[in-house]
Amino acid sequence: MSDTNVLIIREFLVADGDFVSGSELAEQIGVSRVSVWSYMEKLKAQGFDFEAVRSKGYRLTKVPEQLNQALIQARLQHAADKFQAIVLDEVDSTNSEAERLIANGQEAPFVVISRLQSIGRGRLGRVWHSPQNGNLYASFGFRPQISPSQMSLFTLWMGINICECINSICRVNCQVKWPNDLHIEGKKVAGILTEARMEADQVLSAVLGLGLNVNSDGSDWPEGLKALATSLRQSSGQSFDINKLVSAITGRIAIAYKQLSDGSHRAALKERWPRYDTLAGKTITLIQGESRISGVAKGIDSSGSLIIERDDGTRFLARAGEVTIEKKS
Ligand code: BTN
Repeated sequence: MSDTNVLIIREFLVADGDFVSGSELAEQIGVSRVSVWSYMEKLKAQGFDFEAVRSKGYRLTKVPEQLNQALIQARLQHAADKFQAIVLDEVDSTNSEAERLIANGQEAPFVVISRLQSIGRGRLGRVWHSPQNGNLYASFGFRPQISPSQMSLFTLWMGINICECINSICRVNCQVKWPNDLHIEGKKVAGILTEARMEADQVLSAVLGLGLNVNSDGSDWPEGLKALATSLRQSSGQSFDINKLVSAITGRIAIAYKQLSDGSHRAALKERWPRYDTLAGKTITLIQGESRISGVAKGIDSSGSLIIERDDGTRFLARAGEVTIEKKS
């Protein structure tokens, strides 16, 4: 990807719909006016458009609807300049790709996004259905300085931050269903798959994979999924600009990651978790392999374990597992 493309788009984003003169643009970026024009012609081929007015310069009139690496990177330079964005047409799994990139020395943090995944992976060895349907398949790669015991908090903390970002942009009420799902009104809108490479008591790298149903109308989902899943479009009645959304989420993740690195996430998670806890006060069953534990969900403890209060008043702390919510009779 050309950095010049990113710089040009960034100048237009900063102008926020106003005209930018060709000479100013050339000066800011450090290339000739002819060269700016030729970059803009190439951007047009990617779905951008510009209005040219003599004596005023150029104005950005259209951005691509499809995922666009330069546009995402240009937006990121506001909030998360250290994050590198990598956009692919197709990949087996963005989590697998992120792991390969880390193994090959890719600088972290970064985000790898694909228009479709041929072998999208879910939790517990499940498949994550990933056609090219306007949904988001993204993996965020980190080399965090944390211990393995902090990984549960890592996912929960990122989960509430993603919810907050989605809620403010899409005007929905997204919450976390412990440990890894995001729900809107009882239906799953996103799943998170966190995978880490550990050595002794150190996390060497972590990949947080996010599958977020954005613009799908659900018609291409498997039958069994339709009653359980939703998309941002289905829940809000509107479609969303995927480039804007993924840039905002990445910006938010960048801030959340800084808080995780300086330890300020602990107090913030404790304070904010009750607002985003979709299980709070509900009668649930936790499934861990063959065992079943039923009771009322009572929030999380300081390590991110789910607190389940059984009928006899005793408390069970769940570090992992799958939760089903009892239907009200
Ligand atoms: C789950 O709910 O089971 C977690 C699903 C996680 C899916 C995302 S899509 C992007 C990333 N790449 C993958 O292969 N999986 C995650």
